[in-house]
Order: sequence, then structure tokens, then C-alpha cells
Amino acid sequence: MAKARTAYVCTECGAEHSKWQGQCIECGVWNTLSEIVLAPAPGAKASVGAQRSGYAGHAAGAPRITPLITVALTTEARTQTGIGELDRVLGGGLVQGSVVLVGGDPGIGKSTLLLQMLGTLGAHLSSVYVTGEESLAQVAARAQRLGLPLEPLQALAETCIERILEQAMAMRPRVLVIDSIQTIWTELLTAAPGSVSQVRESAAKLTRFAKETATSVFLVGHVTKEGGIAGPRVLEHMVDAVLYFEGESGSRFRVLRAFKNRFGAVNELGVFAMSDKGLREVPNPSAIFLSAHAGPTPGSAVMVTREGTRPLLVEVQALVDQSSLGNPRRVVLGLEQNRLAMLLAVLHRHGGVAAYDQDVFVNVVGGIRVQETAADLPVLLAVLSSLRDRPLPEQTVAFGEVGLSGEIRPVPNGEERLKEAATHGFRRAVVPKGNAPKKGRVGELEVIAVERLSEAIDACR
Ligand code: TYD
Ligand code: MG
Repeated sequence: MAKARTAYVCTECGAEHSKWQGQCIECGVWNTLSEIVLAPAPGAKASVGAQRSGYAGHAAGAPRITPLITVALTTEARTQTGIGELDRVLGGGLVQGSVVLVGGDPGIGKSTLLLQMLGTLGAHLSSVYVTGEESLAQVAARAQRLGLPLEPLQALAETCIERILEQAMAMRPRVLVIDSIQTIWTELLTAAPGSVSQVRESAAKLTRFAKETATSVFLVGHVTKEGGIAGPRVLEHMVDAVLYFEGESGSRFRVLRAFKNRFGAVNELGVFAMSDKGLREVPNPSAIFLSAHAGPTPGSAVMVTREGTRPLLVEVQALVDQSSLGNPRRVVLGLEQNRLAMLLAVLHRHGGVAAYDQDVFVNVVGGIRVQETAADLPVLLAVLSSLRDRPLPEQTVAFGEVGLSGEIRPVPNGEERLKEAATHGFRRAVVPKGNAPKKGRVGELEVIAVERLSEAIDACR
């Protein structure tokens, strides 16, 4: 095989360099350059896949300018995977020809979920599970333990991308799972499997395969310590959707979140519980993020967050404790760190409550990550409750963004959040004025509208 032309690409900013150097001259970061294969010039030779597939543009020669109305009706054929929570995160089912990256810590359930999906799909879609980490016997044993129908399941233990695609071309499955992309390598490169260049090049080949043959491809990706998916940033740009498993290692609950989705809402959540029969869907996820207290406890506030397209009740816990350090600790789990410092400053200036000599710890129960500003008010109420060692009024929920001048700002979809709280039997909601209904209540739920932080504090005495 002719030696492929290569270049060096920065894994931070994606800049290309013709030779290796220690520092990227574009973004100035050190030790991020990695070798990649340059694609042959377009038009040199159509790929085998395009010729065989009858893929619209290529089959007739060069791609043509097309009125979108003729395209819109034919694309985005979706298939239900049979796992409702997965369909929800995918944006309503599996899209033909899409490439989905599934990331998460080791042992969190990536392989289990995808194998279960193939099991339920098996009856009406042909699929291949490519395993680079486990042996065929291990995969078969797992499928059996999960109680999946074995007849339609097909697996391939192979890590060379050229040989995987050769077999996939011959068999033409509708769904292809690669577990994991870090074990896959291409003959074009000498770098070790798992290196940035190998991951990027293999993923590029798989993406091309997916688009040319309308196969849905799932890539399993490992996660680095920093929380990113190992491999170049470009991997995230190459795929259509990035799904991420979250959850505490001690807990049996697993949250699958869409970080990027070209075919659906981002931040959409799917909730699962790991059982001895694999991952089970959790139809009513609100209940699991509320810790089971016997009675009201200081430092605990319940918020209604809206991740993706559904509202979710989540408990925020705070612990405020006299600090022995000159620089008190601010520790946040499941929320943004800098936001807490800002909120504490607002609490001081506009609520008259000082916490500068206190350690403040804030945690979101259930290992879920809340990224929206609606968490501001409940976080402050939890902090205040812990500081005063006095529980918030019973059956109370809160949400709202806190501004720097102490105002409580409305957040999107207030009505829906209030309905969710009412459904779960809450009696009082402290919410921004802009989110409160005119009647002042939703069913049994009394809505207390606040405009300023001080009003919210008064409402929770
Ligand atoms: P796995 O899917 O192998 O994780 P990943 O592919 O993300 O590394 O999940 C393995 C974990 O799940 C392991 O700790 C055992 C647990 N598990 C169950 O509890 N029940 C089951 O039925 C299965 C298959 C796994
Ligand atoms: Mg695995």
C-alpha cells in the first residue's frame, strides 16, 4: 500500500501543521500535536462504498444542487429502538445513517445498554456488535444473562477498521455498534490504537460508511479524567450526536444525557436503573432524585429543573460550616463552581447574610448535573437553611435565576415546572414573579411569586 500523506493536528484547537512541534502555534498549548492521515484529494477516485450503495449524489456522478423540498420528504427515517428512554435522548428514535457517540466512565453500562438495544431491535433490523474489548464468548454470555433473544444478534471480534468495514460492506447491517472506538486502528497509521490519530481516522472512516450506506453507527467512547471523551475534540464534531452517561458509581441509577444532537434537543435526559437484568428504564425519574428524608432537614431544598424536554424534581443539599481556613472552601458537585461564589456574594449584599468565614459545600442528589440558572434560588435557599440550621418549610419547591442586583429572574417553561411539582404533591412553590400564574396556584400548589432575593428569604422563614 502506498504510504499515506500525514499531517499533525492540534487536539485542542484542531489546527493543522505540516511537521511535529512541541507547541501549537495557533492556540499556544503544549504537547497536543498528533499525527493524522490526510484524505486523498476529492475526485481522484470515488470510494467503493459510494459506488455500491446507490447513495443519491454519488451514484449519478458528482453531487448536484438539489431543491430541499425534494429531500425533506425522504430523509430522517426513524426507528424506535424499543427502549423508550434511549429513544427520548436520541430525539425520538434511531435516525438512519446517523453516527452516535456514547461516552461514560468504565463500568457505567455503555456496553450493556447498546447490547440491550440490539436485542430489542434484532427482530426487525439487522445489526452487528463489533467488540474490541471483550471476547465473543463474553458478549454471548452477557446477552444470555440479559435475557436477550440470541438468534438475531451478530457479533464480530475485530479491531482493524479496514477489516471491519469490509465485513460490514458484505453484510450491510442496518445498525453497527463499535465497542469501543479507542480499540480500533487503521492500517494507514503506525500509531498505537487509542491514540488521537487512530481514533480520529477510524471514526472518519466509520462516519463515511454510515453516510454512504445509511447505516446507523454507535461508537462507544471512554472518558478521560477531565470528563471529555478521550480522543480529539474533532471526534465530537464528526458525529451527529454525543450521548453521555452520568451517575454516581455507588448509585444504581444512570442518566444518559444528549450533549449534542443534530436530530433532537440537547440536554435531553434518559434515566435508567442498573439491575441484575441489565439497564431498566425509570418511567418516573423525579422520585429518584429526591432523597428520602424522614422529615424536613436543614440544608435541603427541592428544585424543579427542566433538562431537555421534561421537568424533573431534584434535591439540592448544602452544608455550611465554620471554616478553620483563611480561605474557606467552596465545593460544588453537580453544579457550576464559579456560580456558587457569585451567589454567595449576592446573598451577602442583597440578603444581608455573610458566609465569608464559612466552608460551603453544595451537592445535587443522585449524581445528576444541573446546568441551568434556575438552580440559583434553590441553591441559595439550601445554603441559608444550613447556615441557620433550620429546615425550609415543608413540601416546598423553588426555582429561579438570581441576578447580581438581587433580583429573581424568570426561567423558561415555568408553568410546566409548576405542574410537575403539583403532580408530586408539593404544596408551596417559591418562583420568580414572571413565572407565576395569575391565579396564584396550580391545583393544590400555592405559588409564591418573588421579585427580590429578600422576598424569597422572607417566604422561606
Ligand atoms: P458495562 O456495560 O460493561 O459498562 P461499560 O461498557 O460502560 O464499561 O457495565 C458493566 C457494569 O454493569 C458492571 O459493573 C456490572 C454491571 N451489570 C449489572 O449490574 N447487571 C447486568 O445485568 C449487567 C450486564 C451488568
Ligand atoms: Mg464496555
